Amino acid sequence: MKQEMMEITSQRQLAPRIYEMTVKGALVEQMSVSGQFIHIRVPRNDLLLRRPISINNIDHEAGTCRTIYRIEGDGTRVFSEMKAGDKLDVMGPLGNGFQLSDIHEGDTVYIVGGGIGIPPLYELSKQVIALGARPVHFLGYASKEVMYYEEEFRALGETRIATDDGTYGVHGNVGNLLLAASEIPQAVFSCGANGMLRAVEQLYLGKVNNVQLSLEARMACGMGACYACVCHLQDDETGQKSLKICDEGPIFPAGKVVL
Ligand SMILES: Cc1cc2nc3c(=O)[nH]c(=O)nc-3n(C[C@H](O)[C@H](O)[C@H](O)COP(=O)(O)OP(=O)(O)OC[C@H]3O[C@@H](n4cnc5c(N)ncnc54)[C@H](O)[C@@H]3O)c2cc1C
Ligand code: FES
Repeated sequence: MKQEMMEITSQRQLAPRIYEMTVKGALVEQMSVSGQFIHIRVPRNDLLLRRPISINNIDHEAGTCRTIYRIEGDGTRVFSEMKAGDKLDVMGPLGNGFQLSDIHEGDTVYIVGGGIGIPPLYELSKQVIALGARPVHFLGYASKEVMYYEEEFRALGETRIATDDGTYGVHGNVGNLLLAASEIPQAVFSCGANGMLRAVEQLYLGKVNNVQLSLEARMACGMGACYACVCHLQDDETGQKSLKICDEGPIFPAGKVVL
């Protein structure tokens, strides 16, 4: 099964325009990999395309998965107006997810996120811990006002925070935090805007073998059929070869695709 009417079990506002929503249903049984996303139909007839939202937390016991999203336009605004007990048409889990087969007990794993790229890193961090590795979180927000999940990440491990306007933590972006970090970790996993992913790639490609970057793209079908979400390969001089972010990604090893 890849599609289901899932029930919203909770919805709460975390910060201005930022919401946490939990949904319940049988699809959760198929969720086990961090970094995957669900594709949600907006219950409004004029909004035809589904909206991709990352899985923030998987709870098999409760049969629920959680998402965190920011209101960007009509689709996410409609989601924010829904209440516990309402139903949502959900497809998923979709995408490849973070590959953790090379993570071993005792490893240090840098987990690097910016803005609304941070949500999937929470489930990732839990899974890294379950493998006996040590996550170090580097999180960047625009300001203190729009920060969310600080305590949740601190509960999982060391957490360093930067804000663009300096209202909390280090003044600047996540790149500033990484430049101040002295150790070489066994792996670096990142999700956020392309500028941040480029900084992560520049800092760690060639120094750390396992660097995985989660990309965002405007999506339509979400399952590899429409080519709305392609990105290009770095080592392709012709510029002809492409990969679909929805089903061949959204996570790619650093150095593979043009950011
Ligand atoms: C794999 C993936 C995971 C994502 N995870 C999250 C998440 O966990 N939390 C979150 O807040 N946002 C996430 N996004 C971005 C989110 O999908 C868009 O913000 C959302 O679709 C905007 O819809 P809208 O109707 O509110 O805005 P509108 O701007 O009205 O959207 C119009 C169209 O553009 C698409 N679109 C707009 N912005 C984006 C964007 N940045 N990326 C992709 N498509 C976009 C929409 O899907 C829709 O089809 C993710 C995107 C991708 C590709
Ligand atoms: S969104 Fe259709 S192929 Fe990726």
